[in-house]
Amino acid sequence: MTAPVQALFQPFRLGNLELPTRVVMAPMTRSFSPGGVPNAQVVEYYRRRAAAGVGLIVTEGTTVGHKAANGYPHVPRFYGADALAGWKQVVDAVHAEGGKIVPQLWHVGNVRKLGTEPDASVPGYGPSEKIKDGNVVVHGMTKQDIAEVIAAFAQAARDAQAIGMDGVEIHGAHGYLVDQFFWAGSNQRSDEYGGDLAQRSRFAIELIQAVRAAVGPDFPIIFRFSQWKQQDYTARLVTTAEELGAFLKPLSDAGVDIFHCSTRRFWEPEFEGSDLNLAGWTRQLTGKPTITVGSVGLDGEFLQFMVNTDKVAEPASLENLLERLNKQEFDLVAVGRALLVDPDWAVKVRDNREQDILPFSREALKQLV
Ligand SMILES: Cc1cc2nc3c(=O)[nH]c(=O)nc-3n(C[C@H](O)[C@H](O)[C@H](O)COP(=O)(O)O)c2cc1C
Repeated sequence: MTAPVQALFQPFRLGNLELPTRVVMAPMTRSFSPGGVPNAQVVEYYRRRAAAGVGLIVTEGTTVGHKAANGYPHVPRFYGADALAGWKQVVDAVHAEGGKIVPQLWHVGNVRKLGTEPDASVPGYGPSEKIKDGNVVVHGMTKQDIAEVIAAFAQAARDAQAIGMDGVEIHGAHGYLVDQFFWAGSNQRSDEYGGDLAQRSRFAIELIQAVRAAVGPDFPIIFRFSQWKQQDYTARLVTTAEELGAFLKPLSDAGVDIFHCSTRRFWEPEFEGSDLNLAGWTRQLTGKPTITVGSVGLDGEFLQFMVNTDKVAEPASLENLLERLNKQEFDLVAVGRALLVDPDWAVKVRDNREQDILPFSREALKQLV
């Protein structure tokens, strides 16, 4: 192992959370849990990655117990005895390999379409109502709805703790419900949950506080956020470091332990005048550990995937990533597609077996395990 690569394979400790390596598996929706229940193949899928050098698995988005939380077919639930029993099998298998795992708790918000499981008659729920051709396609959430969704996240976190998960990740990114509240493009509310970014953050702050209250002081809470939205890759919540600091402070104070800063390319500076990426700035501004993510281990061809039309410069090398990790720009490195196609990606990097790493292809999305 060359010295820089070692940086990825150092343990990480935060309170009671001890990770064997700095490699995090990024959450990736897979639609392989019919009826919302993780099955034996799902268990094997996560076990394989934990067995091969991944220190922390963040599961695919898994829906909290609210009728409009889900937006896609065969997404695993994080409520109901059957689904939680399935997740318990996953937890036990990951732990048996020495890995750690947190569920990514998810509510898709206004992205949900009528006809989606589990109740086809339920429309999307979002910060603001949307009407199309005289029909309500997005129900604008009342304060009662807000309270119910927050309670569902808190319950899911409690259940995560009960089945032995090592923490939770709250999905506050990519234009799903929590992010829809943050984003002016989807939050036109005139009550205390709308207004400027500080006011639009109220929903997330209350949600984090409720999760913290549900799990107690020592259970890790990871919060994933992003500037980009699946509805608009160029969207930005903040344009300066100062604004970023003001945005993150109340979230941090509400009880976040680790920020998962979702970018599509880890090497891109977040603001002019510094090389720091979003995770770098977030670490510096909040003093909390951060996870970076975005095209780690991918070559140029596949950078276009999920990226639409914007021009992408040559990808940065793994050396670039390791230098940043060594300088403690961030603490942990999440890897998505590279780990999807090759469960052994981390150990191959560790052992300098780059030539054996399987290249990403869309076919990988169909892999069952
Ligand atoms: C198939 C697929 C499914 C994804 N599902 C989720 C998800 O459920 N939750 C989430 O926060 N991000 C999701 N993402 C984004 C990834 O977590 C990650 O941030 C992104 O793929 C960039 O990392 P990568 O370049 O290493 O793949 C998904 C990405 C892919 C490719």
